[in-house]
Amino acid sequence: MIDSASNKSENVIDSDTQDSPITVQIPPLTVADDVSFTSPLADIINTVYKDAEEDIFQPYLPRTSSAEVAQAIRNGQLAVAYLNKTGEPVGCISIKLLTADRGEFGMLALDAKHRGSGLGRQMILFAEDECRRRGCTIMQLELLVPTTVRHAGKERMAAWYLRLGYTFVKVGDFDAEYPELAKVLAGPTEYRIFEKSLV
Ligand SMILES: CC(C)(COP(=O)(O)OP(=O)(O)OC[C@H]1O[C@@H](n2cnc3c(N)ncnc32)[C@H](O)[C@@H]1OP(=O)(O)O)[C@@H](O)C(=O)NCCC(=O)NCCS
Repeated sequence: MIDSASNKSENVIDSDTQDSPITVQIPPLTVADDVSFTSPLADIINTVYKDAEEDIFQPYLPRTSSAEVAQAIRNGQLAVAYLNKTGEPVGCISIKLLTADRGEFGMLALDAKHRGSGLGRQMILFAEDECRRRGCTIMQLELLVPTTVRHAGKERMAAWYLRLGYTFVKVGDFDAEYPELAKVLAGPTEYRIFEKSLV
């Protein structure tokens, strides 16, 4: 877990991204109680995940809730992308320390209006820097991929993660980790674990 005692991460912005329209930060814990912050962020996550995964689950359930976003902030496990011009949150990435040396990112979401100019990559680099700073040597991510139908979005994600230096290492046990979601899978899927050395 990211240290929730500190209000903000020292890893504010990667040096390569000074001209970026966004700043990625671990928000102050106080915003967890501000529903005008957590609710729009949950809406962004739910909107982009519905678009990306609606055909993978039947019925499709919202990816998150305002309460879950608030808890992730309280746990220090959510980094937020803020639009520099207005300060509004436009995306996020969850960051967890699974063990002392292994970090994991997930719930990567960016408002569709701001996509396609490297901001997703910026959020991942932030998560990697944050885990490296906390002593991790390995970063992990999970990708749920339908196996009997081609899924263009997941194929694009997989190719992107490979370009970012991740390697497909094993198939995880989705049923064990997410039993409720496993019940609503629309068809056969593979739960792929990717990892990357941070050193
Ligand atoms: C994942 C997400 C945050 C990425 O945001 P983004 O702004 O598109 O990120 P980037 O601009 O850094 O682009 C990501 C990669 O996709 C590529 N890309 C972007 N648009 C593309 C398109 N239409 N076709 C093919 N490739 C495309 C980019 O070139 C980039 O690869 P590169 O870094 O090697 O150049 C965003 O797509 C999103 O919110 N998706 C919905 C939620 C989701 O699927 N999350 C991941 C679950 S596994």
